[in-house]
Amino acid sequence: MFEAPMPADDAAVVVKRYAVFGWPVSHSRSPWIHARFAEELKLAMSYSAIEADLDAFPAALAAFEAGGGRGANVTLPLKMLAASKCKALSPHAQRIGAVNTLSRLPEGGWRGDNTDGAGLIADIAERHRLDLRGRRTLVLGAGGAAHGIVYALLDAGIASLTIANRSAERADELADAIGDPTRVHTVYWSDLRDAGAFEMIIDATSAGHTSARLDLPFSLVNLRTLAVSLNYGRAAADFTGWARAARCERVLDGVGMLVEQAAEAFAIWHGVRPDTEPVYQQLRQQLGG
Ligand code: ATR
Repeated sequence: MFEAPMPADDAAVVVKRYAVFGWPVSHSRSPWIHARFAEELKLAMSYSAIEADLDAFPAALAAFEAGGGRGANVTLPLKMLAASKCKALSPHAQRIGAVNTLSRLPEGGWRGDNTDGAGLIADIAERHRLDLRGRRTLVLGAGGAAHGIVYALLDAGIASLTIANRSAERADELADAIGDPTRVHTVYWSDLRDAGAFEMIIDATSAGHTSARLDLPFSLVNLRTLAVSLNYGRAAADFTGWARAARCERVLDGVGMLVEQAAEAFAIWHGVRPDTEPVYQQLRQQLGG
């Protein structure tokens, strides 16, 4: 479903409305990213940031729909709640139990999708041309961010997935939900020192947003280790600094994933995937790193 290109001087055109919901959301780069994609593809659309916490979200989403909203992204802390508000879920979102992309159904109501995992894989495999297959992978964290990526990693052919979480029960719950006991294991955070080395380590914790340090042992790293933070900017610095000090072969932050998950959402809404490289380069310059 292609949307009509933007007419040059037609003030009467009805601009299609999109938005990102979250709390807080004022820092979100999504309005800027989607505006660049729309310019690139000459689509008439608006994309705003709507601040809503868990209590306010259902009414805010209903008001957005009543006002003609076509599609939305949802970010923290709304991804699971948003899934429960959808009339339909993509199979991928169903597995994860959380959505980051809502598309209005023709009959009203929303269909939910989750583009975080596809965004991560696109960044690693396509932008950075790194092979995911066969990598023994450690995911740190078992919250919403971890849920959003684990299935895509397994589908991409990683050799095994080990989940370590500060509170061990959440790691066990995630491993049980995945239901692939031959490839998926958990390890106590306190046992990471004895866990051996991994070819990929992904920081899916929110520790970078606090003053806490992860305090990881260098023994997790070997000559092939790819380290990936799902955060960017200052929130990625503790983990990426550790990864460089540990001599990981490659160290990535979450800027690429941010742009790619947005492009996946854009493709769901508009039927065409934008060229992400110019936006990635501009964002990289803005954020540094
Ligand atoms: P998100 O959607 O960003 O994943 P979340 O669902 O609140 O947010 O999950 C945050 C994750 O970061 C959790 O895995 C959390 O560990 P707990 O489940 O034990 O709370 C992890 N996390 C947050 N601060 C951390 C810290 N200082 N050290 C280790 N893990 C931390």
